[in-house]
Amino acid sequence: MKIYGLEKNKIIEVFKAGEITVSVYGLGKMGLPLAAVFADKGAKVIGVDIDKKVVDGVNKGTNHIPEEPELTKIVEKNVSNGRLCATTDLVYGAKNSEVMIIIVPTFLDTNNNPDLSIVTSVCKSISKGLEVGDFVSLESTVPPRTTHDIILPILEASGLKKGEFGVAHCPERTMSGTVLRDITRAYPKVVGGIDAESTETAEALYSVINEKGVIPVKDATTAEAVKVVEGVYRDVNIALANQLALVCEEIGINAMEVFKVANTQPYSQLHTPSCGVGGHCIPVYPYFLIKTVNRDTSLLELARKINDGMARYTLEKIKSLLNGGLFEKNILVLGLTYRGGVKETRKSPGVSLVKLLKESGARVFAYDPLLSLEEVEEFGAKYVQIEKAEDLDAVIIASDHKEFKSIDWFEIGKRMRNKVLIDGTQLVDPEQIKLNGFWFYGIGR
Ligand SMILES: NC(=O)c1ccc[n+]([C@@H]2O[C@H](COP(=O)([O-])OP(=O)(O)OC[C@H]3O[C@@H](n4cnc5c(N)ncnc54)[C@H](O)[C@@H]3O)[C@@H](O)[C@H]2O)c1
Repeated sequence: MKIYGLEKNKIIEVFKAGEITVSVYGLGKMGLPLAAVFADKGAKVIGVDIDKKVVDGVNKGTNHIPEEPELTKIVEKNVSNGRLCATTDLVYGAKNSEVMIIIVPTFLDTNNNPDLSIVTSVCKSISKGLEVGDFVSLESTVPPRTTHDIILPILEASGLKKGEFGVAHCPERTMSGTVLRDITRAYPKVVGGIDAESTETAEALYSVINEKGVIPVKDATTAEAVKVVEGVYRDVNIALANQLALVCEEIGINAMEVFKVANTQPYSQLHTPSCGVGGHCIPVYPYFLIKTVNRDTSLLELARKINDGMARYTLEKIKSLLNGGLFEKNILVLGLTYRGGVKETRKSPGVSLVKLLKESGARVFAYDPLLSLEEVEEFGAKYVQIEKAEDLDAVIIASDHKEFKSIDWFEIGKRMRNKVLIDGTQLVDPEQIKLNGFWFYGIGR
C-alpha cells in the first residue's frame, strides 16, 4: 500500500497489519539488521544486494554478519514466515515495494573526494520502478545537500515530480556490532524529508521499529549534517585525546589516569587515545565537509592528520624500544580489523602498521581472531597464532579484540627474542606486563 502523504497513525496501522512492502538496498552490516527488523515488526521486506552469495544466504535464512549474533534468530524466523526475502534484481525491488531504503556504502576517491557512485547507481535503478505514492529513505551517510541536490533529480528522471513521491534522509547512526540494539532501543532515529509529508512519512515508519522514538528535523540537509557532525565530533575528539596523550608522555604522567579523572567533570568527554582511527565511517566523514564547503575546515583537517599520524608515531616507538633499526626484526601485529569484534579492515591502524613495518625492513607477522590465514596474508604479513610464534622481537596490539585480554604474556615472553610489547589500544595493564619482564609502551602511558 502506498504510504507517502498518509496520516501518521494510518501508516503505523498499515505497517503493523503487514500491508507495506519495503525494499532494503544493501544487505551488509547495517542493511541486513535493518531489513530483518522491518520484517519482524510486520512489513514484507525485499532485501536487494548485488552480491549473489549474500542474497542466496539470506534466502536460506542465514545471517552473514557474525558481529550481530542476535540477528541469526530474526533472519531465520522472518525468512521462514515469508516476510523476508532477497534479490539481486535492483529494479524488481523498486517495482514490487512502496518503500525503498538505501543503505549501501559511500566512499572517498583517491583524492579524498566523496564517492557516491554506489548510492547514485542504486537510485537510478529505483527510479526505473518508482510510482506515485512511493517513499525513498536514504540511510547511507552522505555530504549535506546530497538528498536534495543529487538524489531527488535522479528520482525525478523517472518522469515523476517532487510531491508525487516522498524522499527523506534517515541516517544510520549506529555502529557495527550493536546495530540491532541501536536501531530498535538505544537512541532515537533522526529523519528529515525534502518536504513536510516526507518527514512525516519517515517519522511514522521509523516510530514502529525504534522504541526510543524519532526526532524529525527541518529538512533532509539538516539530517545529513547531524550524522556527519557526529562523526566529525568523534574524529576531532580522538585527535585531541591523541595529542594530549603525547603531551602527557612528555610530562611523564599517565594520560589515561588524567582523562579518567577529567571526565568525572560533566563537560569533559575526552575519548581514548590509540594508534589510529579506522573503519569506513569516522576517517571518512570529515572529508564530506572538508571537500564540499568553502569555509575554514582546518580543525577537521588537522584532526585527520593527527589521527592518521598515530600509526607512524607507534612505529617510531617500536624502533626506539628496539634501539634503532627494524631490519630483519620479527614483529607481530595483533589485530588487523579497525576495532575489536568487528570484521572490517578498511583504513585499519593494524593494516597501516603492517605496511610501515614492512617498509622499514621488518619481518612482519600478524594475527586477528576474525580473519583467516588468507585474509591476513592479503595484507602482506605472515599469519601466525601468538601461541605458536617464536623469536619475536616485538608484539603490537593494534585492535582491542577481547581474545587478546587473556593472552598469557609470561608464556609468550619465554619464546621471544626481545620482550617488547606495544599496546596501541589501552587493552592491557602495563604494570602486569612489566612484572612479566617486558619493555612496555602504551599510547600516553
Ligand atoms: N558500518 C558502520 O558502522 C556504519 C555506521 C553508520 C552508518 N553506516 C552507513 O551505512 C553504509 C553501509 O555500511 P555497511 O557497514 O552496511 O557496509 P557493508 O560493506 O557491510 O555492506 C554493504 C552492502 O551493500 C552491497 N552493495 C554494494 N553495492 C551495491 C549496489 N549497487 N546495490 C545493492 N547493494 C550493493 C554490498 O554487496 C554489501 O552487502 C556505510 O557506507 C555508511 O554510509 C555504516
